[in-house]
Amino acid sequence: MSSLLVTDIKGLTGTHSPNVLVLRGTDLSDLPTVSDAWLLIEHGLIKDFGRMTDLATHNLKLTTQISVKGKYILPAWCDSHTHLVFPASREEEFVMRIKGRSYEEIAKADGGILNSARKLQSATEDELFENAFYRLDQVIKLGTGAIEVKSGYGLDYESELKMLRVIRRLKETVPIPIKATFLGAHAYPERFKSDHESYLKILINEILPQIADEKLADYIDVFCERGFFSLDETSRILEAGAKYGLKGKVHANQLSATGAVEMAVKHHALSVDHLEMMNNDALQSLKNHDTIATLLPACSLFLDISFANARSLIDHNIAVAIASDFNPGSAPSGNMNLVVSLACMRLKMLPEEAINAATINGAAAMELSQNYGSISRGKAANFIVTKEISSLAYLPYSFGSNLIESVFINGKIY
Ligand code: NIG
Ligand code: FE
Repeated sequence: MSSLLVTDIKGLTGTHSPNVLVLRGTDLSDLPTVSDAWLLIEHGLIKDFGRMTDLATHNLKLTTQISVKGKYILPAWCDSHTHLVFPASREEEFVMRIKGRSYEEIAKADGGILNSARKLQSATEDELFENAFYRLDQVIKLGTGAIEVKSGYGLDYESELKMLRVIRRLKETVPIPIKATFLGAHAYPERFKSDHESYLKILINEILPQIADEKLADYIDVFCERGFFSLDETSRILEAGAKYGLKGKVHANQLSATGAVEMAVKHHALSVDHLEMMNNDALQSLKNHDTIATLLPACSLFLDISFANARSLIDHNIAVAIASDFNPGSAPSGNMNLVVSLACMRLKMLPEEAINAATINGAAAMELSQNYGSISRGKAANFIVTKEISSLAYLPYSFGSNLIESVFINGKIY
């Protein structure tokens, strides 16, 4: 029998009851932790856990045992928003922004997403796969145990499908669950800038049916923003996706508050992501809905734009997740440890709230929280073992240092 017993855990964190699938409001700060604990893994799943004083060893003869004295165990991060398939980095735009140009100005001058798209169109599927695999491997080593990956740098039939096939290969190659999101509506390609209708037709009538045919996507996304996709255009795309069973995960209210959140909620989006620019209408639309508010503080830091108002979302009982937004233009890091630190420092989330938002609520934003996102009996044994730390709050406090000793995926050390 393949089983593993981990003993002497200083704090076994995130031991939610298996029926907890998402946390909102004051519940977000409830992060159950068993101190001086043991954890038993069988066949890649969490079988049981408890306190060392209650450990009965007589029937555990066949297990491999490891002791992790002084260390914490917590669920692996669930990063529900990334663009980690991309052809090349964009540090030249980073330098342009240091010199004073804005993200929007650079995008208007054919930099930004279109810069990535040009390079992606000429990259081979193998090249893209190798680059993306490298990044994915790196973030798993940093504790990510479930991830969402978007297309959106292809922006034509061949290239969007190429990206989604790369994501499918990643799914087949790595041991963590991956959700694929079709983001053909990321930016209008140059030749469609004054002919939106033709590009929308390609997205809706050509690319989407092929994606459905090959089952290449789990979700659909739109960058709903001034200068990108309008409310009406977003609505049409979400409707078209819904016909193929694809729920929305919408880029909303990043640079302006123009109704994107309300539109996405109306379409029962699984999540609305960014939300740096909220207003009361957007806030009210999320209240009493299942749509998850996914905040991306690394993007705010990197672009030097507003940070989302997490406190007000939490106070309005809205489910909040945090994610990396890993992409070459606005968040060139997939390090969820940094995201958790930023959530504490800049979103004023408590360490417990930030960890829940990066685990169980991140899993919920990928419809994975039945099997991932907490240390619960029957869930996949995807977890992080920290180095020796003084307390759980030391993790986000000590930002920038790597406090991860090892990462377990399906009960095996990665
Ligand atoms: O989430 N906002 C749109 N998309 C990405 C940025 C993409 C890029 O600049 O390449 C984001 O921030
Ligand atoms: Fe994004």
